[in-house]
Amino acid sequence: MEKKKIILDCDPGHDDAVAIMLAAKSEKLDLLGITVVAGNQTLEKTQVNARNVCQCLGLDVPVYAGCGQPMVREKMVAADIHGETGLDGPVFEPLTKPLEEKHAVQFIIDTLMGSDGDITMVTTGPMTNLAMAMRMEPRIVEKIEQIVLMGGAYTNGNVTPAAEFNIIADADAAYVCFTSGRPITMVGLDVTRKALCYPAVVDRMEKVGNKASKLFVDLMRHFCKSQKEVFGWEGGPLHDPITIAYLLDPSVLTVKPMHAEIDIRSTQSYGRTNCDYFGYQKLEPTADVAVDIDVEKFWDIIEDGLRKY
Ligand code: RIB
Ligand code: CA
Repeated sequence: MEKKKIILDCDPGHDDAVAIMLAAKSEKLDLLGITVVAGNQTLEKTQVNARNVCQCLGLDVPVYAGCGQPMVREKMVAADIHGETGLDGPVFEPLTKPLEEKHAVQFIIDTLMGSDGDITMVTTGPMTNLAMAMRMEPRIVEKIEQIVLMGGAYTNGNVTPAAEFNIIADADAAYVCFTSGRPITMVGLDVTRKALCYPAVVDRMEKVGNKASKLFVDLMRHFCKSQKEVFGWEGGPLHDPITIAYLLDPSVLTVKPMHAEIDIRSTQSYGRTNCDYFGYQKLEPTADVAVDIDVEKFWDIIEDGLRKY
């Protein structure tokens, strides 16, 4: 079966790192490149984190640094969850994997323009890189097969009551992407908050007993500790890899077509993904929004992914 071509745009970030791990060794996916954006930490840190994950696991995937600032607003980071490095916990060998010279936005443009329109854009951080690519070269829009993003929520946010981090961190970029007209699958907090990485899950993955499971354990021990400190949760929601799990097995999610708009106008609800769950507005759906997740199947996909190393 032909592999599905993807570009993973991310802001590692503990859960981004697991998304990289899951995508890179899959026999179903062709990970063309990892493009990095500021988000969980500054770009200087997130690009190093992406390279460290690839180096640690022996992944020959090019890493490109992208935008270090949102399109309009001031930058925000999530050091309370991901730490000062953005990937606190694991100890990596001295970094030798190079960062690609080309800017991530240029890589996205060049790769999409050179494609047959068969590339999936997966974003698990603020959508700045993809939005900037769309603005720099509008011809790429039709070349995007689909956008699968971790972001948003049709219920409550995790930065404000209204807004989730990846969206509010650059709501203007999310607006550009959500109004692009391309097929969108939105994996929001509504389902990611059901995929809680409890200590029992960490123990299960530790038994895989290879370098990937060790990295997973080192990552999750920090991630879960900070989630408990910030939210009081026993297990941290493993947001980002659900996008990859969905590409590997769409039955892991239940999705519902909805008209979804990004609020960039209001103050209190700035950055909200306004999803018309009940179709009140009778508007055309703009996204397939995840409304449920088969959590057991998700953890099986994670374990299967770790076993490929
Ligand atoms: O709100 C959760 C999202 O924000 C995840 O992608 C996490 O990595 C951060 O980027
Ligand atoms: Ca992320």
